[in-house]
Amino acid sequence: MKGFGSDNHSGVHPELLRALINCNAEHAPSYGTDLYSEKAIQHFKKEFGVATEVYFVFNGTAANVLALRFLMKRHESVLCSTISHLNVDECGAPEFFAGKLQALPHTFGKLTLATLQAAVIRQGDQHYSQARVVSLTQPTEMGTCYTIGEIKEITQWAHSQNLYVHLDGSRLANALEFLDCSFKEMTSDLGVDVVSLGGTKNGLMMGEAIVVLNSELAKGAHQQLKYIRKQSAQLPSKTRFIAAQFEAYFQNKLYLQIAHHVCRMANDLYEKLASIPGVEITGPRESNAVFAKIPQAWIKPLREKYFFYVWDEKTFECRFMTSWDTTAADIDGFIHQMQQLSQRKLFFERT
Ligand SMILES: Cc1ncc(COP(=O)(O)O)c(C=O)c1O
Repeated sequence: MKGFGSDNHSGVHPELLRALINCNAEHAPSYGTDLYSEKAIQHFKKEFGVATEVYFVFNGTAANVLALRFLMKRHESVLCSTISHLNVDECGAPEFFAGKLQALPHTFGKLTLATLQAAVIRQGDQHYSQARVVSLTQPTEMGTCYTIGEIKEITQWAHSQNLYVHLDGSRLANALEFLDCSFKEMTSDLGVDVVSLGGTKNGLMMGEAIVVLNSELAKGAHQQLKYIRKQSAQLPSKTRFIAAQFEAYFQNKLYLQIAHHVCRMANDLYEKLASIPGVEITGPRESNAVFAKIPQAWIKPLREKYFFYVWDEKTFECRFMTSWDTTAADIDGFIHQMQQLSQRKLFFERT
């Protein structure tokens, strides 16, 4: 069964699986001291800038939480959106490991500069948790993308307020496709300080990276972040199995091929869904997610063949997400089933 539940539901991209098999043959030094890690880190430096420091971890929650723990003190806070993964899907780990979250209202997942500006209050007041980090998700949990101009504006303002900017980039490559830019143009060139770079959702078996871009922070990372990672049980002994996947992911810009595919499939799905009577598209399509309201009665029969998530149990807004292995036939099959339900609905409405 294949569906539109999540890019976490798909398997491993064949080229990345090959990379795993290739690094399986021999022994290699552990804890990131292997040749695969060295080569992968060179790729990160090429993509994000020479000063970049990279820390591989097992999952996206760890990348986020350890990045924040590195950037802030316990009495400080992170400005993020109410819908951010940090706020709603990390079981309080950011507060447990790093500090307070200040969850702010968003539009289709995005924070505005004005909202952020209004949230920075009582700096210097010992009774109030001090804002220290702005965390943006790119693409957002609603599949939208901050533009280059928006990231630049927010980052410039944040730095003027002595705040760091963290990017939760668990699907960052998909934003490259939409914005038609490079990793560097979307992050380091704009002054973003730290990125949680995802791999798992873009075809890796598992593996994420904390990418420190700010050169001053990068110098300190070696004194702090490596210990934070170990203390938090996120230092993989066989790091080469994460590194080798990232090496293959960057090689020949495989990440762009995957991002291009998932976005093209999502766009196809978006356009076809929009043409079905009874379906209401609820947001723009800017990455590999499509949001739409469908009649409640359709959910069960559709999900028997193609799983997807009901995003809002009250309105029946659903999220449909494409993966590296989504095919045009998957979309046509799903759309065909929806068209049949739609025609049945129209028939009963008329009779
Ligand atoms: C935007 C975002 N950030 C972070 C994560 C965390 O990833 P993980 O489930 O690997 O901890 C997810 C997972 O779905 C996500 O969607």
